[in-house]
Amino acid sequence: MMDRTRALAMTVNGEAVSRDVPVRINLVDFLRGELGLTGSHVGCEHGVCGACTVLVDGQSVRGCLMLAVQADGAEVTTVEGFAEAPGETGRQARALQQAFHRHNALQCGFCSPGMLASALELVQAGKTCDRAEIREHISGNYCRCTGYQAIVDAIEDVMLGRGGQ
Ligand code: FES
Ligand code: FES
Repeated sequence: MMDRTRALAMTVNGEAVSRDVPVRINLVDFLRGELGLTGSHVGCEHGVCGACTVLVDGQSVRGCLMLAVQADGAEVTTVEGFAEAPGETGRQARALQQAFHRHNALQCGFCSPGMLASALELVQAGKTCDRAEIREHISGNYCRCTGYQAIVDAIEDVMLGRGGQ
């Protein structure tokens, strides 16, 4: 049976995008397959691993659980757009990327785009969290390599303004 399609318009990393899309395609498959933004990864495909996390209107969402058409009219930011994002979002995203690099907060890098999206959401909330609260916030993003300590170190650096930002 042919999938029904629907017109979709959104902003992705600051660029207006419009496409006719199958109504059942999920957001991360749309971003990767239609727009070529393969920085967002796909792991479990059912909302558990967090590899597909992107920001939709500033909120972290699982790209495998959200239909692309549910993001109609939204502003979507993926890892490809973090560093170039305007204003404070871009500054904080760059600070996070530098802090992840400084702390070796990634090894294979598979979790990193989703981890950075969740971290950016937390830093943008503007409050200072302790390490347990940072762990809680990123608890939906699985990392099989790092043991999380370096990731928390990196997020804490940015939150506390450490590390030459
Ligand atoms: Fe979406 Fe794992 S691929 S949560
Ligand atoms: Fe490999 Fe996190 S760096 S899964």
